[in-house]
Amino acid sequence: MKKRFIDPFFPNRPVIDPNLFEGRNEQIDEIVDALFQTKNNNAKHFIITGDRGIGKSSLLLQTKILSEGENSLAKKYGVDLGVEKYDFLSSWTDVTEGQTLENLAKSLIADLQSTVNKIFSSLKISIDFGGFVQIEKNTNDEKSITDIVYEFVKSLKIIYENVNKQSKDGIIIFIDELDRVSVSTGVSSFFKLVSEKLNREKIHNIIFVASGITGAIQKLGFEHASIDRTFRDIPLPLFTEQETKEILVTGFEKIGFTYDESIPFLTYSFSSGFPEPIHIFGSEMLSVSTDNHICEEDFNKAKFKIVTDLRKNKLQDILTKAGYGKYQSILEAMAKYSDVNVPLEFISKEIKFKQNEFSANIGTLIDKNIIRRVDRSVYAFIDPLLKEYIKHFGTIKIDK
Ligand SMILES: Nc1ncnc2c1ncn2[C@@H]1O[C@H](COP(=O)(O)OP(=O)(O)O)[C@@H](O)[C@H]1O
Ligand SMILES: [Mg+2]
Repeated sequence: MKKRFIDPFFPNRPVIDPNLFEGRNEQIDEIVDALFQTKNNNAKHFIITGDRGIGKSSLLLQTKILSEGENSLAKKYGVDLGVEKYDFLSSWTDVTEGQTLENLAKSLIADLQSTVNKIFSSLKISIDFGGFVQIEKNTNDEKSITDIVYEFVKSLKIIYENVNKQSKDGIIIFIDELDRVSVSTGVSSFFKLVSEKLNREKIHNIIFVASGITGAIQKLGFEHASIDRTFRDIPLPLFTEQETKEILVTGFEKIGFTYDESIPFLTYSFSSGFPEPIHIFGSEMLSVSTDNHICEEDFNKAKFKIVTDLRKNKLQDILTKAGYGKYQSILEAMAKYSDVNVPLEFISKEIKFKQNEFSANIGTLIDKNIIRRVDRSVYAFIDPLLKEYIKHFGTIKIDK
């Protein structure tokens, strides 16, 4: 009988244990520098950007853990902290979809206040939210950003003065998924004005550390050209083959499993550099394995389960998003090709159209992030699992 074990993979939540965090060496170095600068009164705000599922919340969380004095990650990466350990006070706010700016500002203060009250039970800071309530009540679209900034900084200073007495390194306000606030709320002006105001008031060790979907920072810049001078952008790249291997092997080793040499590369080629599918593959391979060794058959079984079950709806959505008719034919042709990289010539022959008769469709599929251009006249699926899905279920056929 197969022994029960704790699954070392966790596709549904950010990395909490620093020892299970892989890759991101350069970003961690940059982040440690921002902490060091901030502690030394040279505030460095930053935003971690990347696609959905690339690992933004995980890195944000690791930053928080490090900023509160847990050094495992820095040790593992051999990063010079510049100090023995950090001792920031930090709060965490998850932005909700479509949240208003005044409500976000209030949440940031409320979350910070509750953190302070939890950590220093003797302090019991009480903030008067009357000003925010007043702004929120104002329905005639006359919510001035200046008023929100004023209320925000006023409340922040009350907390700051109390925290300062406790000789902390400073305050870090973590904001996950900042892109959920609409650009039109004036969110980028808000952060710019707050950071300038803090600077004028000689408060140099409070920072904002946010995360947002790729393009979020550029979108923010659209409204206020100098936002990129407030927040430093830390973009997250795709995981390399080596990093993918590290995530897998760390998991397997944790529970004493061995694996065929080919498994890390196979997993890499089907996860397209995203950590989430790596965790899904890892977890599924362990669950289908009948001994303590992962072989290619386990990989194939896991892939089948992912395509036909775990990821089925998501893949179906991508296929629907592609559009009908010619779009489906192109994808069907691409799925038939024996290699990952498909020449245009092959697609042309399969769908019986000249290349110039469907080049606009190819362009649309690229814009929709379904396929990508590998080289001149060579294309590939962005999510390799979509190819498997089409091979299994076919494409969407609608009779005209
Ligand atoms: N550096 C990493 N090492 C190992 N697993 C990671 C890493 N970064 C992210 N993951 C895993 O990938 C998945 C997606 O990560 P998450 O941080 O939630 O992404 P995002 O916030 O960008 O959507 C989660 O299962 C998480 O545990
Ligand atoms: Mg996230």
